[in-house]
Amino acid sequence: MKGHFPIDKFNTLCTPFYYYDTAVLRDTLNCIRAEVARYENFIVHYAVKANANPKVLAIIRESGLGADCVSGGEIQAAVKAGFPANKIVFAGVGKADWEINLGLDYNIFCFNVESVPELEVINELAAERGKTANVAFRINPDVGAHTHANIMTGLAENKFGISMQDMERVIELAAGMRHVKFVGLHFHIGSQILDMGDFVALCNRINELQEKLDAQGIRIEYINVGGGLGIDYHHPNRQLIPDFAAYFKTYAAHLKLRAYQKLHFELGRAVVGQCGSLIARVLYVKQGTNKQFAILDAGMTDLIRPALYQAYHKIENISSEASVEMYDVVGPVCESSDVFGKSVDLNGVKRGDFLALRSAGAYGEIMASQYNCRTLPQGYLSDEFM
Ligand code: LLP
Repeated sequence: MKGHFPIDKFNTLCTPFYYYDTAVLRDTLNCIRAEVARYENFIVHYAVKANANPKVLAIIRESGLGADCVSGGEIQAAVKAGFPANKIVFAGVGKADWEINLGLDYNIFCFNVESVPELEVINELAAERGKTANVAFRINPDVGAHTHANIMTGLAENKFGISMQDMERVIELAAGMRHVKFVGLHFHIGSQILDMGDFVALCNRINELQEKLDAQGIRIEYINVGGGLGIDYHHPNRQLIPDFAAYFKTYAAHLKLRAYQKLHFELGRAVVGQCGSLIARVLYVKQGTNKQFAILDAGMTDLIRPALYQAYHKIENISSEASVEMYDVVGPVCESSDVFGKSVDLNGVKRGDFLALRSAGAYGEIMASQYNCRTLPQGYLSDEFM
């Protein structure tokens, strides 16, 4: 894989920066398109939160995916990238009035509503505009996923969604409101899920719910199962493209969709995760008492996942073929959690080498901060170096 980085071109750029391999991104999008085409009623939205770099968004939009947004800023980014408003869904527990108004003004496809007070506000704001907003209710299915606690969202104790017990009452409430139209149910059980059994559990829960709703004559046009498909952080080269075939097949096999229903997905990480790397330069190699440190010019401000979730990103020295040594790879930020990896095997490191932190296309650039008055990293597409 080392050969895939145009290192000679990197010499002219300020590090750290994000490098997006557009061939990988396009192959991933083509795979999604081919797999989804097997099922007539499946529709995929891209979860903009994973990466909103305008150049990346433009490629995703070209592939025909819709957009899943969680803020007014994301709606603006999606519209600017050319996503049609009728393919935009808008989720989030705390939508501000201006964000709801923005969605109404663009006539987005649907608001994924997470509470009764929010439903009331959408109804009021839509009334002021003489519009009717499509709403889906985010249901908290109380399904635990085998992932990190901070990115698990489907348990009753999480802040997300409306509980299953309250669902029928809320649907009834919406039916009595003139400026909202209830169209669907929305779920999302968490992120970086690799065990298809977790999605099966969600399907079973939805099947139970649907039976209850059928019995009451409540018709649901669409079901949105969120995102969550994980990627192989440990072996990015082994599996550059996630197993979309298995993912969609799981839903096709286990979810009992009615003939008139559409099934929506909101995938983020699986779309963009593997195409991106954070490229940093080594500033210093420092000998500690019983270890050596590779100190980079990239830190937790550029890629916060290791510090925030103890997440693993494969690190490669793309400038060196020297024999392998062990390093703690750290950033320059004044926080002891500013560590990318401990006891990492790398080809012998020297000042000025480029290191690639792999699988950083999702929740990397977009989560960067300016702590310590640092500059935000740029993002480049491989196409730009041709
Ligand atoms: N839909 C909803 C309602 C979500 O909350 C999320 C992610 C997605 C879709 C997309 O999930 P994905 O396909 O990317 O798993 N910053 C964390 C991940 C946070 C995920 C938040 N919600 C990380 O770096 O791992």
